[in-house]
Amino acid sequence: MNDSESLKRIAGEKAASSVEDGMIVGLGTGSTVYYTILELGKMVRNGLKITGIPTSKATEKLAVTHGIPLGSLEQHHSIDLTIDGADEIAPNLDLIKGMGGALLREKVVASVSKQLIIVADGSKTVEVLGTKSPLPVEVLPFAVPAVLRKLGDICTQAEVRLRNGYIYVSDNGNNIIDCRFSSIPEPEKLEASLNRIPGVVENGLFLGMADRAIIGTADGIKLIE
Ligand code: A5P
Repeated sequence: MNDSESLKRIAGEKAASSVEDGMIVGLGTGSTVYYTILELGKMVRNGLKITGIPTSKATEKLAVTHGIPLGSLEQHHSIDLTIDGADEIAPNLDLIKGMGGALLREKVVASVSKQLIIVADGSKTVEVLGTKSPLPVEVLPFAVPAVLRKLGDICTQAEVRLRNGYIYVSDNGNNIIDCRFSSIPEPEKLEASLNRIPGVVENGLFLGMADRAIIGTADGIKLIE
């Protein structure tokens, strides 16, 4: 396991210790929360009773493989705790998410969660959002050409995401446009502008949603609260 992978693992596993018996738990998507899900699987095998709400088809499959019982938003109107990864974490816990393509379901799950814990390695922390990662924007396929032109006016570079040479399709049947900025000094204003573009389904700005970040660093776990 390389350094970055072991930092993801310590952060991901640590977050599982916040999960208590009887909780409804939002299960995020990505290579860091992967370790949380594996740890939760072990805890379930040792008798922990939880119901997971997955944020992607990949997470659903992983949770089923590891024996975590799953439920839906139809059955559970409120989630006790969601654990998820992030692509950028600002000092005030504003986030960019969605490089794994699951931003829409992740944001829906986060929006009905009493607590959102973010797990990441130290490379994800930034002073100002937009300085490392592009901002993923999920777009209705029909609207992609029109939205791409509009986003081209807002950001420094807007590109339709590809995977293996083909246009990426999310679990929701939508496409993603990755928008690069030199920085995002006013994320609320940007989010409002993005939400005004017809055809934009969701964007990867998660503002004021996270309660805590567990960051794996070479010096151990760092908490941002
Ligand atoms: C999934 O769409 C994303 O929001 C992930 O949570 C994010 O990309 C972090 O993933 P990693 O833990 O794999 O970096």
